[in-house]
Amino acid sequence: MCAATLTGADWIWKDGEFVPWGEAKVHILAVAVQFGSSMFEGIRCYQTDRGPAVFRLREHIRRLHDSCRIYRMPLAHSHDALVEACLETVRKNRLGDCYIRPMVLWGYGAPGMFPAGSPLETYIAAWPWGTYLGEEALAQGVDVCVSSWTRAHPNTFPVAAKAAGHYTNAQLIKMEAVANGYAEAIALGPTGVVSEGSGQNVFLVREGRLITPFLDGTSLSGITRDAVIAIAADLGYAVREQHVPRESLYTADEMFFTGTASEVTPIRSVDKITVGSGKRGPVTEAIQARYMDTVRGKVAERLGWLTFA
Ligand SMILES: Cc1ncc(COP(=O)(O)O)c(C=O)c1O
Repeated sequence: MCAATLTGADWIWKDGEFVPWGEAKVHILAVAVQFGSSMFEGIRCYQTDRGPAVFRLREHIRRLHDSCRIYRMPLAHSHDALVEACLETVRKNRLGDCYIRPMVLWGYGAPGMFPAGSPLETYIAAWPWGTYLGEEALAQGVDVCVSSWTRAHPNTFPVAAKAAGHYTNAQLIKMEAVANGYAEAIALGPTGVVSEGSGQNVFLVREGRLITPFLDGTSLSGITRDAVIAIAADLGYAVREQHVPRESLYTADEMFFTGTASEVTPIRSVDKITVGSGKRGPVTEAIQARYMDTVRGKVAERLGWLTFA
């Protein structure tokens, strides 16, 4: 895998104003840099026939507020203000298909663990970002392994919060996978059952039914996961949330990742054991197609998930 670099845009929203992309900086000793206390979101905006539309923006901003609440961050911007700020950021940068990254972080000031002596700063960046695991991955699927790294025990890192510091674990999972020639990895939770990918939830298909791990305090409550559960119901597939033992990964008929960045990405092998026929399976394909139609505004019943910029 080659190392991708970020393609910047022109402006970043900072607490109600726009600053040029290159001037959105924090001090090296900001609490967030020292200790990882930055809450963030990853949101996609898609070009549609009616212009750019942000997918499930309200749910992402709700999760950002939840993250701040869990980490005792007194976020001063209301839900509606942040929704509008995301849309303004897309408009100001004249973007169509793009990724939106809101961040709420403790800045420079406090020297130690108690961050309240620092300013709480909110930023929203957006930039063009294509498929996370590659175009080919969406069609052909990816080869993954089970990570030797485990997701954290519940009540250590609260996974309902999307905190930057939690992502050192995700980086270990991803880097090990890439070092061993895989596109991604699936991590187990502390009890040994399947949790999630480094930045994706996981679904299995068996006998035409979808299975996904419980939200057991070790995996993020993915907004794409939630969308896929609803889409599966729309298409008539049964979905079961359950504990997923590792070996189920080797016996599934089909498997796929879900995530804002990864969208719906088929998995074609796990630990070099072929999943089903080794290609994107029919259920995965149906769900993936419906998901892409939905985000592009082509599914009338799900237009409520889009906020037009
Ligand atoms: C650890 C982790 N799991 C799952 C997901 C998928 O969540 P969503 O569908 O809300 O993007 C993400 C992405 O944000 C993530 O970082």
